[in-house]
Parts: sequence; structure tokens; C-alpha cells
Amino acid sequence: MRTPIIAGNWKMHQTGQEAVDLASGLRQRLKDVNGVRVVICPPFTSLLSVSRAIEGSDILLGGQNMHWEEKGAYTGEVSPTMLLTAGCKYVIVGHSERRALFSETDDTVNLKTKSSLKFGLSPIICVGERLEQREANETKEVVEHQVKGAFKDLNSEDVGKTVVAYEPVWAIGTGKTATPEQANEVHRFIRGLLSSEFGRECAEEINVLYGGSVKPENSRELLEMPEIDGALVGGASLDAQSFEKIVRSSIGD
Ligand code: 13P
Repeated sequence: MRTPIIAGNWKMHQTGQEAVDLASGLRQRLKDVNGVRVVICPPFTSLLSVSRAIEGSDILLGGQNMHWEEKGAYTGEVSPTMLLTAGCKYVIVGHSERRALFSETDDTVNLKTKSSLKFGLSPIICVGERLEQREANETKEVVEHQVKGAFKDLNSEDVGKTVVAYEPVWAIGTGKTATPEQANEVHRFIRGLLSSEFGRECAEEINVLYGGSVKPENSRELLEMPEIDGALVGGASLDAQSFEKIVRSSIGD
């Protein structure tokens, strides 16, 4: 059985004190919750202060992006060791906003995936089709390309430490959610791909999260699906009460 993961991607929201307050509020609300792994991904500037605010709790910290090099002349970038020393265990890689707005490609996603694993961070690798691709029946083709690109040259031991997030681009921040059946079908497809590349045992270890307008109102039915092992939550992760409800729904609470 895979332990569900509920990850909050705060994107470019929450300044210093706001981030600490949100993290402290979540810590308080979630202190009796077991059986789910909760990850929060604040902006870089708040990683250290949020790390202190959740210290000693079960909440885990993640970065929203990173460079694949350990250090160097890369103005504006953040390295895997910087994330690690700020307290991160996870890092989001290849989010569709980074692919669309910041020229992220399957090749850079692959470099980041390999580097995060080398330094001991678990990558949350994002894949998902745009609306026109879904309408042209290209969802599986697009997702296959992204998954194979991200996992190129990885061994099954490393693959077992990764998390995949299926985030259909048309569902992100739009209020439109994939139906539980639509999402489950793509999740099954992703696990099948990983199984044929890296073996069934390895594929069964990997959490495949769903992301795209996940809210307390729809999380339960999504998370009940057999292939949906958690959620990557944007907007609703900025509200402690909503995020708490999503976390609780993942364990049938
Ligand atoms: P929303 O939950 O705001 O749609 O964002 C999803 C997302 O992009 C999480 O990474």
C-alpha cells in the first residue's frame, strides 16, 4: 500500500511572515493526522523560516524548482544542496508553468530529476497535456513523451524514490477538474509505462499524484480512485482550513 502524499505548491504566494503563519496554522491543524505524508512547497525566500516553523512536526518541506548543478555562475538559480540545507526533502520538477513560461524542456526536467536524486531529494515530476492536446486525443502520447523524457537513464532504484504528478494543464487554476475516471485512466497509463520501463515492483512503489483545481469539495472522490495516490494542490493549499480538509480526505477522515 502506498502512503498518500498531499503536497501544497504555494507558487509565488506568501511573503515572509505570511508563510510562517500559514505553516504554523497547518502544523496546529494537522497534529493528530496519521497515515498521509504532507509536503509544503513555499517560495525559496521562506524555506528556512517555514522549516523552523514545522520543525519537530510530520510536515515535510519541498522546493518548487532547482538548478541541476551543485554550484556555479547561475545568477538567480538555487541548487539542490541549498534546498537540502534549507530543510527540503522534496522538489517539484517540470511544473507546467515552468515548461510554458520559463522554457523548461524534457531534457532539463531529466537533468533536474537525476540531480535531485543524486543529492538525496525526492523529485515530484509534473506531467500533463494542454487542452488542445486532450481535444486532439493526444493525452497519452504527450504524457508518455514527458514521462520517458524525465526518466531517461535512471535506474529502478532511483525511480522508486520519485513521485509523479499528473496535472492536466487545462485543469490548473481554472476550476475545471479532470473527472476521477479521467484522472485514474491517465494515472494507470503512467504506472503501466513505468512498469514496462523499470519493472512492476518499482512502478508499484511510486506515488502518482493528481493536480489541477483540487479542492475540499472534490478531493475525496479523486483520492478514492485506486491509481490516485495523493494530490498536488495549488490555490487551495494557501488556505489552512481547505488544505487540512484535503489532507484529511486522503485518509477517509
Ligand atoms: P491549482 O490547484 O491552483 O489548480 O494548481 C494546481 C497546480 O498547479 C499544483 O502544482
